[in-house]
Amino acid sequence: MSATATPPLLERFVQAGQGQVFAFWGQLDEGGRRALLEQAGEINLAEVKRLTRLLLGRDAAPGVDLTDLQPAPYVARPENGGEAAEWARARAAGEAALRAGRVAAFTVAGGQGTRLGYDGPKGTFPVTPLKRKSLFQVFAEKITAVGRRHGRPLHWFIMTSHANHARTEAFFAEHRFFGLDRARVHFFRQGRMPAVDFTGRILLESPGGIALSPDGHGGSLRALHRSGALDLMQGEGIDTISYFQVDNPLVRCIDPAFIGWHLVRGAEMSAKMIPKAYPEEKLGHFCLQHGRLVVIEYSDLPLAVQREVDLPTGRLRYVAGSIAIHILDREFVRRMAGGGALPFHRADKKIATIDAAGRPVKPAAPNGAKFEIFVFDALPFARNALVSETRRADDFSPVKNAEGVDSPRTAREDQLRQYARWLQGVGASLTTDASGLPMVTLEVSPLFGYDEESFAESWARRSPKPEVGEGLYLE
Ligand code: UTP
Repeated sequence: MSATATPPLLERFVQAGQGQVFAFWGQLDEGGRRALLEQAGEINLAEVKRLTRLLLGRDAAPGVDLTDLQPAPYVARPENGGEAAEWARARAAGEAALRAGRVAAFTVAGGQGTRLGYDGPKGTFPVTPLKRKSLFQVFAEKITAVGRRHGRPLHWFIMTSHANHARTEAFFAEHRFFGLDRARVHFFRQGRMPAVDFTGRILLESPGGIALSPDGHGGSLRALHRSGALDLMQGEGIDTISYFQVDNPLVRCIDPAFIGWHLVRGAEMSAKMIPKAYPEEKLGHFCLQHGRLVVIEYSDLPLAVQREVDLPTGRLRYVAGSIAIHILDREFVRRMAGGGALPFHRADKKIATIDAAGRPVKPAAPNGAKFEIFVFDALPFARNALVSETRRADDFSPVKNAEGVDSPRTAREDQLRQYARWLQGVGASLTTDASGLPMVTLEVSPLFGYDEESFAESWARRSPKPEVGEGLYLE
């Protein structure tokens, strides 16, 4: 398209009442015009109009539907009443799928990471206690180790954003893909949505740039489809996708028992749960609503309901917390990607923009909204959707905030506690405090052990045994 004549796209924006997007058109050079047209071309004007009416208009739905809600059932772990033999069968099914090459790892890494405030893609954040390995390296080593164990290297799909794509790819190249076969590592960008003011007018971040941001982790389903990743999987015989977030160094990227439960139950989508530690813990809740599995966010479930307990056990009624770890069936993703079935959510934000003269404006209070889709909103559409329990200490310690809860410090300590448990499990002597935190800093590479069992096997083989103390690194 020529960037000099008045392009039809511009006309369409004017007709949709979004002509302000091109307010500075006359001042842009040819390159600037082309860039703006490219951004504008990404925007689905009908969708923006629909979302404005649905989420911002006077008739906008007044919050989340909480009718006919009850706690969701889940598969309990053996130590909490689950059937050990069934867990063993599930695990065997998961291992068979891994040996057959049916499983791929999938990381969503397109978030903005505003709360952490780290300058760089979150996956490049140094997270381990001793070696300061990045989150990406931790996952790469886990994926390598699981592939070795099952005699089948895995494919790894990584969803980035426009903002961090190039830096993410460069980081992998710089680190020689952490020893992975680069033909099996696939990067693709997620989609973007424009930010709007509270009347639905699309905001500019500069005279030649629209305020665009990632469309939420739910955008991963569309992006997997659009990027050709699903077709690539199909060609490789992969039908099962192990989904996890980039911010969680403890995650078992590939968990045979979880994969097995998903397969044995014929689920199209599965989710891991941990029992909430306390009623106000900021986790989504797995619930059944009108007979379907849903996640109700902590901010949407009234505190009084979050505090309800089951008598006589005294356990929280809504105990099942969501930790954003899923298994997805490939063809289910294809179905969900096509239909626009997932709802958008509105998030009011302070959006950096410009005034009528093109000068930057940094608002002190929210001045508009972003639209995002969430991956867990796919659960109610999935056949036989399944929730399976995991141990927090083995799967969940996210790095969200710069300090306090869910921060680099808590993630570091949780990794150290895990190493200490594994070492104590094989009889090594190690002093810890009451919370299980060792007195020394040490580290275990996932290539040595990525779970208790693989750790114990490597330990048994290691001769002579190393001295357990400050600075120990097992690889
Ligand atoms: P969060 O909800 O923690 O958001 O993402 P965030 O953008 O990373 O961080 P804040 O809220 O700005 O501090 C959870 C996971 O979902 C991914 C993130 O990369 C993270 O792995 N995500 C989130 C995406 O891939 N795309 C998105 O649009 C949003």
